[in-house]
Amino acid sequence: MKDLRIIQSPLDLIGRTPIKRLDSIGRGSESSLWAKLENLNPSGSLKDRIALQMIEDAEKNGDLKEGYTIIESSSGNTAIALSFVGALKGYKRIIFMPKIMAREKVEMIKRYGAEIRMVDVGEDVKDRSVHGSYVEVPGRIMCQRMAEENPQVWWARQFSNPANYRAHMKLGEEILAQLGNQIDAFVASVGTGGTLLGVAKVLKEKIPRVKIIAVEPADCPYVTLTNFKIIEGVTGGLLKEILDGKVVDKIVKVTDPEAIEMNHRLIQEEGLFVGISSGANVLTALNIARDMGKGSQVVTVLPDRGDRYITSEHYVT
Ligand SMILES: Cc1ncc(COP(=O)(O)O)c(C=O)c1O
Repeated sequence: MKDLRIIQSPLDLIGRTPIKRLDSIGRGSESSLWAKLENLNPSGSLKDRIALQMIEDAEKNGDLKEGYTIIESSSGNTAIALSFVGALKGYKRIIFMPKIMAREKVEMIKRYGAEIRMVDVGEDVKDRSVHGSYVEVPGRIMCQRMAEENPQVWWARQFSNPANYRAHMKLGEEILAQLGNQIDAFVASVGTGGTLLGVAKVLKEKIPRVKIIAVEPADCPYVTLTNFKIIEGVTGGLLKEILDGKVVDKIVKVTDPEAIEMNHRLIQEEGLFVGISSGANVLTALNIARDMGKGSQVVTVLPDRGDRYITSEHYVT
């Protein structure tokens, strides 16, 4: 039976997403390929989970109070999610966003009523596959300054806020509740690393043999898992925890065209109108399932909706 709940708030629609076996794309592989439909969160991505958790944790510990302004540097989904959740909770929101991001994302943030400050991230990343953590760094430096200067500003700091991965621990618990202990691998694209870290913490605890596979854009020049540098205060965070804690069993790089091709297959063969990182995740999950062989179960996430990649198709995390 479909979900016929009466809800109090759109915030009640965050999380508890369905999981779907990808029967068409997984055909012939002798394994089961599962996708968690995170595109069905109300503002269209898994970042709704972390926006809610970060805001509510900050409210509880007194860092975020009535009359404060929420700020964040984000290349898209976190900005949209904070704009959405922050509006319902009555906060002013200012988003520092790289100039190169797609128009759809900018318009969504504005329509949720947040203010956008465009940040120049340099010519070199134009027309390339860009990495969330990389393009967000100049905006993070601006957030850091603003938060230091104004005590009534709360910087969400998704890249290092533990509420980020804690929100994704719930995602991990949902996966366990949906599939039980028969999971051989979990695959996720890495931006802040929150999805991978949160889900890995839960799955590794219950299923020690599970393999954790990180996916990242092939053409990401700076803050990545394979080329890691720390700028004090604005990088490091969850990515460092992932590397130091040896959470990842394998890192896979996916190019723009590969991610886009699988994204189109998801839309046309599976009827799932999702974003480009979903294509990268599913392509990697399919290859891992093939390597693991007959009877294996591989799980991944479809992080966001495809409507935000109409004018610009790139593998962004
Ligand atoms: C479309 C998309 N895919 C994947 C990710 C990676 O998620 P995380 O930041 O939890 O590593 C993000 C993060 O911003 C994203 O927006």
